[in-house]
Amino acid sequence: MSIITTVTPEQKAFFEENGFLALGPITTPEELAWLRSVYDRIFAQRAGRDEGMQFDLGGSDEEGKEAALPQILSPHKYAPELNEGEFVKNALSIGRALIGDTASGGIGHAIFKPAGIGAATPWHQDEAYWDPTLQYNSVSLWMPLQEATVENGCLWFVPGSHKWDIKTHRPIGGDVRVHGLELHEPDQDELTRLAVPCPLEPGGVTVHYNRTLHYAGPNTSGIPRRALILGASLPTQPYPGHRRFPWNEIKQTPRAERERQAAERRRTSRETPAT
Ligand code: NI
Repeated sequence: MSIITTVTPEQKAFFEENGFLALGPITTPEELAWLRSVYDRIFAQRAGRDEGMQFDLGGSDEEGKEAALPQILSPHKYAPELNEGEFVKNALSIGRALIGDTASGGIGHAIFKPAGIGAATPWHQDEAYWDPTLQYNSVSLWMPLQEATVENGCLWFVPGSHKWDIKTHRPIGGDVRVHGLELHEPDQDELTRLAVPCPLEPGGVTVHYNRTLHYAGPNTSGIPRRALILGASLPTQPYPGHRRFPWNEIKQTPRAERERQAAERRRTSRETPAT
């Protein structure tokens, strides 16, 4: 089988027009089998939990409550060997082909949708999570470690939405304890009419811009849906003009609290002289 390492001029033109692209595998079945074992290990170890890097993206993230949408930020911190994978090189090469040779990037996060109970990822634009004082030109590459289907939670995109401004978001369900964001009062019927599902082969990728509106359904299948998300980004610029993302300012998540406490522990251990 041939591995995808770049895009054709037609694919690039489609991406620029529509704001998303679906491609075939960027890695081998052998690497995918290895990736699944690393992925399952770090989720089982609850890697990063104590420092707020592993949490329930879609829920209130209380201790002892089963997460319906577990996420690990920067999973390569807990499994550095992930950075050695072919898929990292190929994802970055595709990102550069789409937005420019000077783009930098790598693995961003891992989102797991457990079989049967994995929750939907509501409609959002990735930029809504970020610093509103900066202007972005970036892409996300979303790679499932098994087949991605409508039943197990493949991504859906609204064509052309990368040209929209940032819409009003809120924490999922309006609950300030939840890290995940969703469009505020989306017109579900309208979005369903406009959106395009992108099922993928194992190791395939979808690519989307920082403003492309996207969604993933719940996992109603009998198999876990594992996905790794990589990013490629041109240097940010100051945002021209003033804007705020109040939906991030109101969040009070257990994740952020664990991150704060971990930083506090690091600070204290530096200040305590060794005995
Ligand atoms: Ni997203």
